[in-house]
Amino acid sequence: MGEIHHAEYANFSSSDKREALEQVLQSYDALVEGQTNWVCNLSNASSLIWHAYQSLNVPVNWAGFYVLNPEVPGELILGPFQGKVACQTIKIGHGVCGTAVSQSETQVVPDVNKFPGHIACDGETQSEIVVPIISSNSSGEKTVQGVLDIDCLALQGFDSIDQEILEKIVNRIAQTCKW
Ligand code: SME
Repeated sequence: MGEIHHAEYANFSSSDKREALEQVLQSYDALVEGQTNWVCNLSNASSLIWHAYQSLNVPVNWAGFYVLNPEVPGELILGPFQGKVACQTIKIGHGVCGTAVSQSETQVVPDVNKFPGHIACDGETQSEIVVPIISSNSSGEKTVQGVLDIDCLALQGFDSIDQEILEKIVNRIAQTCKW
């Protein structure tokens, strides 16, 4: 890719959501070449996602990850993120994040106040999307490793386009990191 400064990957110019999120995917792929450390890769992924939504003028106030807590079974622990300080741990099955893990399914929440058990790390959040990170080993066994969580200050911040492309991004994340 020639001479490119790392920070330039965070430059997004498209006002089209699909294009901007596809650019996140391409940039993530370029950045993780030869790198499998999950802390490193999730850190850059949260930055790419944050800057993509800022450039689209979507009022995202938090973008980041919770991963399985190696010390406490049944619990997620805060991972790399962009935004304000957040809850450190979440029980699997609780909140939007814990539900995405227990159901192994993306949760698109147009109004967090209507989601039973929503955990409000920031009272200003109005909507969110949570995508489970599902890795599979050589024998095809699937394991949920954590979640991508994106929060928004507006109601209905996310739709099926976000879901479709974020699931692609998270799928790449699941495959490219050593968990
Ligand atoms: N709202 C999430 C908790 C994580 S924070 O929003 C960063 C939930 O209900 O799981």
